[in-house]
Amino acid sequence: MDNEYIEKLLPEVREVRDDGLRRAVIKAWQLAMEKGKWQSIDDVPFTLLTEAKTTLVEHTRAVTRMAVAIADSRQDLDRDILVAGGLVHDVGKLLEYCRSGDGIVKSEYGKRVRHPVSGFGVALEAGLPLEVAHIVAAHSKEGEGVARSPEAIVIHHCDFIDFDIAKSQ
Ligand SMILES: [Fe+2]
Repeated sequence: MDNEYIEKLLPEVREVRDDGLRRAVIKAWQLAMEKGKWQSIDDVPFTLLTEAKTTLVEHTRAVTRMAVAIADSRQDLDRDILVAGGLVHDVGKLLEYCRSGDGIVKSEYGKRVRHPVSGFGVALEAGLPLEVAHIVAAHSKEGEGVARSPEAIVIHHCDFIDFDIAKSQ
């Protein structure tokens, strides 16, 4: 998939100021699409756990925008790492899910490996730094076994703000 497809789907990639980091974020989405054999991802749901209609792209954008707002209201966070982490935190869901007929279901891969783990691998393979891959690995319950970085704490909470509100509707 070309860069333009990802940039159009996730315009918040422009918020990543470092060129190399921005390219690696795009690469992570491209790699995950390739690995999950996705031709398009605009209709992928953000979770299979609720009836919420929110898509993975809408969720990723919402989490990233919240992260940008928090980064801009504090002085103790690495803005670029935080924004990049928001953009890729759920990229592993493209391996966890797959198309089946008209729907999207948990893949065989996803029954064995959850998205924080698969996403961590994709992030490193895409050339993202460990601080960003850490956000991916630690954003969900998997992060309870390690010391989350300040940026991972932000994404963890933003993720659950969006998840819990979607669940409540
Ligand atoms: Fe998420």
